[in-house]
Amino acid sequence: MEKEKIIIIKSRFLAEIGNSRNEKELYDIKVKFVGRNGELTKILKNLKNLSAVERKEIGPLANQARQEIEGIYENRKKELGSQVDWEKEKIDVTLPGEKISRGSLHPITLVYREIEKIFSSMGFEVVEGPELETDWYNFTALNFPLDHPARDMQDTFWIKSPKEKMVLRTHTSPVQVRYMEKRKPPFRIIVPGRVYRNEATDAAHEHTLHQFEALVVGDDINVGHFKYIAKEFFSAFFGKQINIRLRPSFFPFTEPSFEFDISCTVCGGKKCPSCKNSGWLEIGGAGMVNQNVFVSAGYPRNKYQGFAWGFGIERLAMMKYKIDDIRWFESGDLRFIKQF
Ligand code: PHE
Repeated sequence: MEKEKIIIIKSRFLAEIGNSRNEKELYDIKVKFVGRNGELTKILKNLKNLSAVERKEIGPLANQARQEIEGIYENRKKELGSQVDWEKEKIDVTLPGEKISRGSLHPITLVYREIEKIFSSMGFEVVEGPELETDWYNFTALNFPLDHPARDMQDTFWIKSPKEKMVLRTHTSPVQVRYMEKRKPPFRIIVPGRVYRNEATDAAHEHTLHQFEALVVGDDINVGHFKYIAKEFFSAFFGKQINIRLRPSFFPFTEPSFEFDISCTVCGGKKCPSCKNSGWLEIGGAGMVNQNVFVSAGYPRNKYQGFAWGFGIERLAMMKYKIDDIRWFESGDLRFIKQF
């Protein structure tokens, strides 16, 4: 009697467990057979009421059945665990997808590219130099006297270095001498790059900014060439006719030196609030290369003539895109950058 029951219990267990689809169902089946009031448990509990002979036969059979059931349960549990739950994995292909946001170029990068495109079309070479610069290239070779205020700690980031005095370059002009040491005139180059100044920042001043230098050297390069190239460049850059105005100024590395302005990009020179009713916008510095700079680069004195200019790319970008605060550029604020 008991023996048959055990065989039937085992086969029913096997059948039911084969149909179980998840761990919960599986567990319920196990409880039904070997739980506290399970069918097999009842037989085990009843052993004490059997005769000694029967007990000897049924006892081991029942215990073995119990072990088998536990074993089968564990195996099936593993099997179910490794199965894909199709209910959970179901994909609704009609749902709207997740949007992947598109990156965009920083306005400084855009202006860089525009500048390089225009100057390449005029036969200029694009040259770069190091941002960590020696005192020699940043100042001395460019004819800065030892006591020049730009060399002051208040204006410039000096870097402790074991050998030479080093600075975070304050302008792109050091690349003038670096380039001329390697090349003989005639040549025309532009030098875009990042520069650093120890500034108290405000809407018009940043500690980290970008400049681009132009340097054209030959036997008879003169101020007329400079004006022409500047006019061509700014007209191409702003997509309208631009005029150039020079005002006398001073830089140690140019002689004579100028500040130069362009006709207002908003009113075209007719005077408006953008140009503070002057008709002109200040752009940057320029001049004829000082002969002392040629000598620093190893050229003979008074053999060549050239012009150089340098100015801030941020300022150009601010004019082109009508940006009101220079601090946006280095802010890392995506709301700003995504507009370009
Ligand atoms: N390097 C100068 C500056 O940063 C600009 C300049 C460049 C002036 C070339 C004249 C010639 O202010």
